[in-house]
Amino acid sequence: MIPLPREEWHLPARHVGRRALVFDRLDSTNNLVVALAGCAATEGVAVLANEQSAGRGQHGRSWTAPPKSSVLLSVLLFPPLALRRPALLTAWAAVSVCEAVREATGLQARIKWPNDVLVRGRKVCGILLEQPGVNNATVAGIGLNVTQTADDFARAGLPAAGSLAMFSERVPDMHAMARRLLAHLDEEYDRLLQGDTSTLEACWKWRIGLLGRFVLAECGDGPRRGRLLDLGFDGLHLELAGGEVICLQPERVLHLHQEGEW
Ligand code: BTN
Repeated sequence: MIPLPREEWHLPARHVGRRALVFDRLDSTNNLVVALAGCAATEGVAVLANEQSAGRGQHGRSWTAPPKSSVLLSVLLFPPLALRRPALLTAWAAVSVCEAVREATGLQARIKWPNDVLVRGRKVCGILLEQPGVNNATVAGIGLNVTQTADDFARAGLPAAGSLAMFSERVPDMHAMARRLLAHLDEEYDRLLQGDTSTLEACWKWRIGLLGRFVLAECGDGPRRGRLLDLGFDGLHLELAGGEVICLQPERVLHLHQEGEW
């Protein structure tokens, strides 16, 4: 059974966040949105929770955050086939987070391949994209740390994590931040639906920031090392040590790190 939200927002959006359900506590916002996907809820429904009892992260890890410290958000999309690519939709979520962070705080965030957003080297946001196999749905889950302190992360055993409040004095409360993020998700998604993927691609490339660098691309079938010549939704172009240039499909690349020269 779907629980009752504490509040419901109706935002002036075209797609994402026209309806947002705000809960005090859920096990996981992604779990609820996966359930909504099965009952054909409308596109763009957003679910927010002040607290999660079983927040989920990548690779089966858990995602924890003190109550009311973070934006804990999941949105439901039914993207057309051309947009139903995990790399593209992860980029959509990550770029929207970076833009919302810049607008709210002035901070320039970076994207760490494939789905982390960093500020000054600390992970402030993680993204969990799921395609549960019902009604061609995609669920984008976003956990954005807003008010935690360095001590909170140290106590939680997360020394590499950060929050917006650690780096800016201009931090809005988490609901204001959530509204801002929903507005960016909506704007970027509308652009994608209109057939413009290049604007997102350019922002994604810039926020990853590894062009021309020597990188290690960890792929399912082994690592590749080379100089990153170009990066796009069609592929990562790597110049290998012998001069050969290869193109790796983004979905094949599990992690991408900067390396020293050979
Ligand atoms: C990661 O491991 O980096 C991804 C973390 C994703 C966490 C968010 S919080 C909101 C949504 N609900 C979940 O259970 N997980 C995602």
